[in-house]
Amino acid sequence: MSLWNWKVGGGVIVLAFVAGAIIGSVGLKKNSHLVSSSDSDTWSNPLQPAYIDDVGCAQCHPGQVADHAGSGHAQTFHSGDLAEQFEMLRDRSFRDEERGGTFTFRAEGRQLVAEFENGTRRERLPIPFALGSGTHATTLISLLTSESGEPTVLEHRVSYFATDRRLGVTPGQAGLIEAEPVDCLGRVYRGREATNCIGCHTTTAKIRGRELNDVRANVGCESCHGPGRGHAAAMEANRPGHEISSDKGIRLAKGTVSSAEEIQLCGKCHRTPEMLPAPPSIADPKIARFQPVGLLNSKCYKRAEGRLRCTTCHDPHRTVDRVSENYVATCLACHSQSDAGDKLCPQSPKEKCVSCHMPEVEVHPGISFHDHWIRVRQPADERH
Ligand code: HEC
Ligand code: HEC
Ligand code: HEC
Ligand code: HEC
Ligand code: HEC
Ligand code: HEC
Ligand code: HEC
Repeated sequence: MSLWNWKVGGGVIVLAFVAGAIIGSVGLKKNSHLVSSSDSDTWSNPLQPAYIDDVGCAQCHPGQVADHAGSGHAQTFHSGDLAEQFEMLRDRSFRDEERGGTFTFRAEGRQLVAEFENGTRRERLPIPFALGSGTHATTLISLLTSESGEPTVLEHRVSYFATDRRLGVTPGQAGLIEAEPVDCLGRVYRGREATNCIGCHTTTAKIRGRELNDVRANVGCESCHGPGRGHAAAMEANRPGHEISSDKGIRLAKGTVSSAEEIQLCGKCHRTPEMLPAPPSIADPKIARFQPVGLLNSKCYKRAEGRLRCTTCHDPHRTVDRVSENYVATCLACHSQSDAGDKLCPQSPKEKCVSCHMPEVEVHPGISFHDHWIRVRQPADERH
């Protein structure tokens, strides 16, 4: 039977909780408030004519738009006919040892279709969307209809891993128990979890059954700055300053948010401590994936009296600078003058700070993140 026509029943699907799951909302508290209510309203009511999209901002902010276009934020949601991301999967197969079956991805017309076969069963499902820029991985999703009408996302069981260009089981899905036939194809998310999966990777989108409406793909300008039509109109009418504030019109004008507020904004998607299933612990290397969680726990943040935030080290419009030495000057802004009471490094006062204090930690085979819990690391930390 074709799963495309499947209805997922209202029954409870038992999903085993796998420690160390990393992609997707796995590892998060169920029903946790992943987004503030006002933002989730924006995501679920995107029909407001308030958006002008990145192209609308480009007219007056070409620099930020050009920088942003090259960042992961601008490439994290793909849809449509055989998007480039789908080419990496086309005509490829993956043997799923755990489930004793084989997945094959084929192009049918302009659509990519996943097929699962294990001798006794053959299930198929077209794949309309792919999430992730592919810096680490690309995960495929399909929408399903449910009897209750609640948003239902199927996260496919096979993902594409960019580091070694292989197909593999989507992080977080190894060991999951198959409770319903549809589970052979992947993992089902419902309600808020389904909405957030797409919400964190788009600026606006509304799930209606198997369709996604009002899609503004990727983390665009208005994801962080809020809808910009009012601001653009005011600027066009030459009323500078008008409509720029943290709660009305454009958000995040310089000097309008505190470091704590900025970290919360980034944490809305990069995760805050409240979203974790348990209080963050140094002993859990997996939390290196969640930079706001690490930073908020670091003494650099706690003792710097609001002087440290994400944009102290990152340009929010640019892809991350991968040259570690380029961050040293920022460290030294607070760690170079012992006469001013700064703490100096007894090991290496002028270089290589990142390699010892913010090292890369593998959170899933082939996927590493820099640990933002900046600290003096103990030998035990390095066992991970
Ligand atoms: C609406 C959700 C959302 C918000 C808000 C958000 N991010 Fe992201 N961010 C993402 C997603 C999704 C990715 C993964 C992109 C990909 O597919 O590679 C990402 C990736 C990144 C990356 C790595 C990708 C690259 O090109 O370097 C950096 C750095 C980053 N974000 C920094 C920030 C900072 C700093 C903030 C706050 C100013 C922030 N993000 C706010 C969703 C968000
Ligand atoms: C709370 C917000 C949030 C939710 C919910 C979420 N993501 Fe993400 N996702 C992110 C952020 C932030 C990143 C970038 C940092 C990272 O990889 O953790 C990311 C990264 C990714 C990547 C890797 C991109 C790359 O190449 O670096 C994939 C693939 C992905 N997400 C797929 C999914 C899927 C599928 C779902 C839903 C089942 C989902 N995400 C739910 C915020 C979210
Ligand atoms: C991931 C969140 C995020 C996204 C996406 C984003 N911005 Fe920003 N933007 C910020 C933050 C945070 C600041 C404040 C930086 C600071 O205080 O130094 C900012 C500052 C600005 C500024 C002030 C000048 C500057 O560069 O600091 C402009 C203009 C701007 N953004 C325009 C844009 C435009 C246009 C886009 C879309 C191409 C965009 N932003 C996308 C987070 C974002
Ligand atoms: C018609 C031109 C125009 C358009 C379109 C426009 N802006 Fe602006 N924007 C301006 C001008 C001019 C300023 C400076 C206003 C001032 O300093 O009083 C500004 C200021 C800003 C700032 C605050 C900069 C600071 O001082 O920190 C941000 C953030 C920003 N714009 C983001 C956006 C985003 C995002 C979009 C698209 C949704 C956008 N703008 C569309 C003209 C425009
Ligand atoms: C905005 C200022 C600021 C910046 C930037 C900053 N730090 Fe810190 N850092 C601090 C403060 C304040 C402390 C606490 C010192 C104390 O204990 O009195 C600290 C503490 C530390 C400690 C000791 C932490 C512990 O747990 O004992 C290390 C290691 C450290 N910083 C490394 C770094 C590195 C590496 C960078 C750059 C990647 C950096 N810091 C950037 C302010 C900063
Ligand atoms: C003290 C400096 C500093 C601060 C503050 C900081 N970062 Fe980073 N960040 C780094 C460094 C260093 C890297 C690794 C760069 C490299 O590849 O060498 C990095 C990498 C990243 C990446 C890429 C994935 C990874 O871990 O390698 C993301 C995403 C990111 N930071 C998000 C954030 C967010 C969100 C915040 C605010 C909560 C933040 N960062 C605050 C220094 C910082
Ligand atoms: C080779 C690894 C290494 C490098 C590189 C390194 N550190 Fe350290 N750092 C350490 C160790 C280990 C300690 C703990 C103190 C000790 O054992 O002497 C430490 C301690 C610190 C402390 C706490 C000092 C105190 O008095 O409590 C700070 C702050 C610090 N480092 C900052 C930095 C900065 C900034 C850089 C880059 C300029 C840097 N470190 C580079 C290994 C390193």
